[in-house]
Amino acid sequence: MRTIEIFDTTLRDGEQSPGVNISTNEKVEIALQLEKLGVNRMEAGFAAASPGDQKSVAEVAKRVKNATVVSLARAVKDDMDKAYEALRNAQNASLHVFLATSPIHRQFKLNMSKEEVLARAVEAVTYAKKYFKEVQFSAEDAARTEIDFLAEVVEAVIKAGATTVNIPDTVGYMTPYQYGNIFRELKKRVPSTDLIRLSCHCHDDLGMAVANSLAAVEGGATQVEGTINGIGERAGNAALEEVALALETRKDYYQATTKLNLKEIARTSQLVSRLTGMIVPGNKAVVGANAFAHESGIHQDGVLKEVTTYEIIRPESVGFKSNKLVLGKHSGRHAFKEKLIDLGYHLEQEEVNAAFAAFKVLCDKKKEISDDDILALVDSKMVRGPEAFQLESIQLAYGNISVPTASVRLVRADGSVCEEAACGNGSVDSIYKAIDRATGEEVSLVDYKILSVTHGQDALGEVFVRLQQDDLIVTGRGVSTDVLEASAIAYVRAVNKIMERRGEPAPVSATI
Ligand code: KIV
Ligand code: ZN
Repeated sequence: MRTIEIFDTTLRDGEQSPGVNISTNEKVEIALQLEKLGVNRMEAGFAAASPGDQKSVAEVAKRVKNATVVSLARAVKDDMDKAYEALRNAQNASLHVFLATSPIHRQFKLNMSKEEVLARAVEAVTYAKKYFKEVQFSAEDAARTEIDFLAEVVEAVIKAGATTVNIPDTVGYMTPYQYGNIFRELKKRVPSTDLIRLSCHCHDDLGMAVANSLAAVEGGATQVEGTINGIGERAGNAALEEVALALETRKDYYQATTKLNLKEIARTSQLVSRLTGMIVPGNKAVVGANAFAHESGIHQDGVLKEVTTYEIIRPESVGFKSNKLVLGKHSGRHAFKEKLIDLGYHLEQEEVNAAFAAFKVLCDKKKEISDDDILALVDSKMVRGPEAFQLESIQLAYGNISVPTASVRLVRADGSVCEEAACGNGSVDSIYKAIDRATGEEVSLVDYKILSVTHGQDALGEVFVRLQQDDLIVTGRGVSTDVLEASAIAYVRAVNKIMERRGEPAPVSATI
């Protein structure tokens, strides 16, 4: 049985999903969960892309101990210097340097000849080796590169010291048969590939990223790159949870497995979904809400008689709990704290107290509190960065023949209060206009989604918003039994993120 290493790029390629913008604190939270999941490597970002990215890579590098932390860099010295700076405090660090090799990229993007590309690749790896023991070289758009030239590049960068060579299908163009063959061919033509990690990196433009990754494993890849929930540039990357489950469930066929702690998959997927605002479709393999639901009578009958009739993965094996009904209004602080630990939270006493207070308020509104309610509630109470504004209250006048009017009261970071009112073409619109007036920020709402956390009339409502200000797009999330309150919380959080991203100090009241 071979062990396939997992390279997670949720925080880099995943963050390249349109409209996704994860703050440093959120990246650290995801990174710590990826560490629990047991990934071998995690790409924390592209340090040279912006000071914010450099800070995120540095923070992740400081906190993660049991996985190698990686930064992406172009094949230019300044990028590699910045990556080195950001990774200085990592227990285990690696540089991921990339350069395109395909004819299309050479001609139209780089305007470089084959000889120039080869020389630059070797120069970059040689330079990176001054700083890092572990260096990964990616031949961007490798899948559309002439195989002779690709083999030449692979051989040369290994000679220069690359410890991993990655063969990306950058534009998701490959079929499994073709992609697997590239690996077979490289193994045949370049014997030194036996001495390094050979990595695959697939995009999902034709819906084949996971199948292509598995074909690469069959062809000889020893590392798979991807993201949680398959998020990423355009149609996304290979979904790591799907790759891992395919290898685990069909190890009879692949004769390969990963070292992932599969029971952490559900929690990791939910966290990434919450913090990116990228909602997991119900029918998504492994982590979708319907992935283990049996609807037809024939299937239900079969599963009741013998579960393997229609179920090839046990939900528990990826961390979904079957007994989800838990606490209620008679539950005490101790039981609540135990439940938090069971759900994977390790909170300070003060945070437990705040979460418990919110839980008690929820108990007055909702009879049965499930794991999902607690996860949504605690998560929504966690402060993941500076809060320029906090929502204190909203008031709303609504009637189907009158103009909806909202007034909001926000508290600034310095404790001062701002209150504003506005009319709108609907309840949510009037609340958002009032918040805009109160914060003085000019933003546009580019997406608004509302979900119910659990079933029933008293279910918690979860609202995701995406706001844009100039080139910056951020997400915000709010949870409440009242969807209008959840809408307001989500919006204020997104405004706070915009201000954090701009690096501005929290606004102070004009009267102070
Ligand atoms: O898809 C791609 O080619 C990449 C490289 C930077 C590895 O993400
Ligand atoms: Zn990619």
